Amino acid sequence: MTALAHDSTSLRAVFAAFPTGVTALAALVDGKPAGVAASSFTSVSLTPPLVSVCMAHSSSTWPALRRAERLGISVLGTDHAAVCRRLAGPSGERFTGVAWRATPDGAVLLDGASAWFDCSLEQVVRAGDHDIVVLRVHDLHAEPAVEPLVFHASVFRSLNPGALRPIR
Ligand SMILES: Cc1cc2nc3c(=O)[nH]c(=O)nc-3n(C[C@H](O)[C@H](O)[C@H](O)COP(=O)(O)O)c2cc1C
Repeated sequence: MTALAHDSTSLRAVFAAFPTGVTALAALVDGKPAGVAASSFTSVSLTPPLVSVCMAHSSSTWPALRRAERLGISVLGTDHAAVCRRLAGPSGERFTGVAWRATPDGAVLLDGASAWFDCSLEQVVRAGDHDIVVLRVHDLHAEPAVEPLVFHASVFRSLNPGALRPIR
């Protein structure tokens, strides 16, 4: 067996040097919104339209989300920093005080997102301690006036050069 070159703490620190946006992956589960923050969102394919997120095998929410008919992906805006922390916190309180709506098929989308996708599960590929989750896009919308939240070096930032300080 090959020895692990780096421990998970140093892997996390170096992976975090790659700046990303942050999304909320969410759906109605038993009539209630369930979801997680996910910075691993990536666009995958134009024809057919596909996107992906990577979900940890340790996630307690992903097994419920993957059974949903539709999954919403909301690209968080700079006003969503506190919402993002909430979405990664205790599961019973994730949507308390968060403005959201559900599509008729049960995708949960956050108000004030800089973009959203209404998706269904297309494929799940096991990869190490995560699942690469490929999702088919059924509907989507961008709101260019909403500035996206940026996640870099484990802090939230803004694309606005005048606001390079971390967002609380
Ligand atoms: C900014 C941010 C980005 C995250 N991105 C991911 C991600 O891409 N994949 C993932 O599995 N968890 C990610 N998480 C962790 C989840 O949001 C969540 O905290 C974790 O899945 C544990 O909750 P659960 O057991 O309800 O799933 C992220 C957390 C934060 C704060």
